[in-house]
Amino acid sequence: MEWLRIEGGRELRGRVSVPGAKNSCLKLMALCIMASSECTITNVPSITDVDTMCDLLRAVGAGIVRQRASVLSVDPRPIACTRLPEQLVRCMRASVQVLGPLLARFGEVQMPYPGGCPIGSRPIDLHLKGLAAMGAQFSEEHGLISGRANRLVGTEIHLDFPSVGATENLMAAACLATGTTVIRNAAREPEIVDQQNFLTRLGGQIRGAGTDTIRITGVPELGSTTYPVMPDRIQAGTYMIAAAATRGDITVTDVVPEHLEAVGSKLAESGAAVIASEDSVRVVMGDRPAPISVKSMPYPGFPTDLQAPMAALLTVGRGTSVVTENIFNNRFRYVDELSRMGAQISVDGRTAIIRGVSELTGARVAAPDLRAGAALVVAGLAARGETIIDGVEHITRGYDGLSERLASCGAHISHTVDAPEAASFDS
Ligand code: EPZ
Repeated sequence: MEWLRIEGGRELRGRVSVPGAKNSCLKLMALCIMASSECTITNVPSITDVDTMCDLLRAVGAGIVRQRASVLSVDPRPIACTRLPEQLVRCMRASVQVLGPLLARFGEVQMPYPGGCPIGSRPIDLHLKGLAAMGAQFSEEHGLISGRANRLVGTEIHLDFPSVGATENLMAAACLATGTTVIRNAAREPEIVDQQNFLTRLGGQIRGAGTDTIRITGVPELGSTTYPVMPDRIQAGTYMIAAAATRGDITVTDVVPEHLEAVGSKLAESGAAVIASEDSVRVVMGDRPAPISVKSMPYPGFPTDLQAPMAALLTVGRGTSVVTENIFNNRFRYVDELSRMGAQISVDGRTAIIRGVSELTGARVAAPDLRAGAALVVAGLAARGETIIDGVEHITRGYDGLSERLASCGAHISHTVDAPEAASFDS
């Protein structure tokens, strides 16, 4: 059992550096399957999802060496198996990202449906339809998907929705297909540009990532490379929101400010000063947030992964805010937990109406998923008194050194793996 204990109501002040992005690093690791020899990834975050991806790649035979916490090598040459173990695949949605690389490189794959955060239905039909359009054949028995492709052939694919994972899987597989693949209505997230940059370093021929049309011309084989993961825009956004929630002053460093424009502009609308420089963003807040309306959208819209932390901030707003979730159909599971802390939120379908209260009060709450957990941390930092958060294993899937980073800015927060009584503060 792991617990976070927060003594809230303290302004956060200082600088927080941001590690590599979970949602790019996991995909880069999967792409290593298609390399010709060992690849080294740097700026790797220390999160449990990276450990799970290491286990998954080891399970198919890849050689994994973690030289340091932030440097990881993946050697695909010993891969001898294309069947993925159920218990690992069920732990993490990103396990589906090995589908395209295994199929493209070895012509076959068997995997169960992936697991991941319980935030709504998460089908993989767009991944399978796109790969089928390139010539793969899929069958399904007892929940196990089997895919075969003697040869993938480039084609035109129009995605029904700009799915991040489907865009990445198809882009990967197309690199080793014959001819040219065009993906239209592609997702435009910065993580996809990171995948393009990585694949290009391997010798892939891709252009268009970051726009809604990506063109890939297949090559017979890819090489190897050393590559740094892009900064984590969701961890960065969480610290920006935490600064606003505690009426503090935090500079998040080692970021790409352009990736943070949507969250920065919403924080500014709620009354924060948001100052971007070359590779950092400072957020200063002096008052309770003004009520605003937030709608999650595909990039460059407001990220769904920051919807819950932003809602936590707005619970102490000076009026009624409206938060609409447009990407996943069950991403308000944090609402009951925030209510225990005094938040006034009602949910109607995809919309949460948040009536701001003057303050939250600390309580014992449980993180139902990763970003909901981050929302509870934001709320705990803002609340009066002590908050204890259970379900920390969700948070450590995606936040690297969260309590240390917040403590370095003055938060009274401790992470224990024992009974909550074990933690104490120097106040
Ligand atoms: C990625 O998930 C991220 N996960 C998510 O972050 C993020 O919330 C999401 O993109 C959107 O930005 C990883 O990168 C590991 P999608 P992904 O395919 O790729 C529907 C976090 O907290 N859809 O863009 O799974 C789907 O149901 C996680 O770090 C289909 O219908 O997201 C959803 O409604 C949570 N069929 C929408 O598209 C498909 O085949 C967006 O999903 C695929 C998706």
